[in-house]
Amino acid sequence: MAPAARLRVVVLVSGSGTNLQALIDAASDPGFGVDIVAVGADRGRIEGLARAERHGIPTFIVRAPEFPTRAAWDTALAAAITAHAPDLVVSAGFMKILGPAVLGAHRVLNTHPALLPSFPGAHGVRDALAHGVKVTGCTCHWVDAGVDTGPIIDQRAVRVQDGDTEESLHERIKVQERAMLVEVLARLAATTGAGG
Ligand code: GRF
Repeated sequence: MAPAARLRVVVLVSGSGTNLQALIDAASDPGFGVDIVAVGADRGRIEGLARAERHGIPTFIVRAPEFPTRAAWDTALAAAITAHAPDLVVSAGFMKILGPAVLGAHRVLNTHPALLPSFPGAHGVRDALAHGVKVTGCTCHWVDAGVDTGPIIDQRAVRVQDGDTEESLHERIKVQERAMLVEVLARLAATTGAGG
């Protein structure tokens, strides 16, 4: 019997890459069914890229300021991703809105540090804290043309504690976020495999 198809994944990062690290660790088990074929970023000198390099994963950087327009950047990013022929793109702390070239060519999922549809955007943790919610969390969703508006795949709840700062709350959310992302990828690899 032919071996089951493995899910080829490109991960996009802009910062510390702890979600990426969780996926790298999970993917070290062949049973996980996921190959991280490349890690892309919109900026250099970030820990996310260093994590990929330490694990021998190819990297690429497509910096928006180096392109005359946002559309040109989007087209270049789509081409850089396509070069690795992924089945799926994971935006894991990638701090730019993806455009139609990327979204037209690839299935993209994103992790967001709030319980969507509440608190979309770049400051989901800060906004939830400022609102005074007692429970927040994280969401994994398919990326569409909106900002954090695509279909929800999974969520985890996190209680806000007295005295929480944006940083302390975000750290607890990220613990849940990493576990959620690994579980979602395991499910997708098991149910869709390559080309599903
Ligand atoms: C995550 O909470 C992600 O949802 C948010 O930024 C954080 C990235 O963390 N957009 P890391 O780079 O994976 O450590």
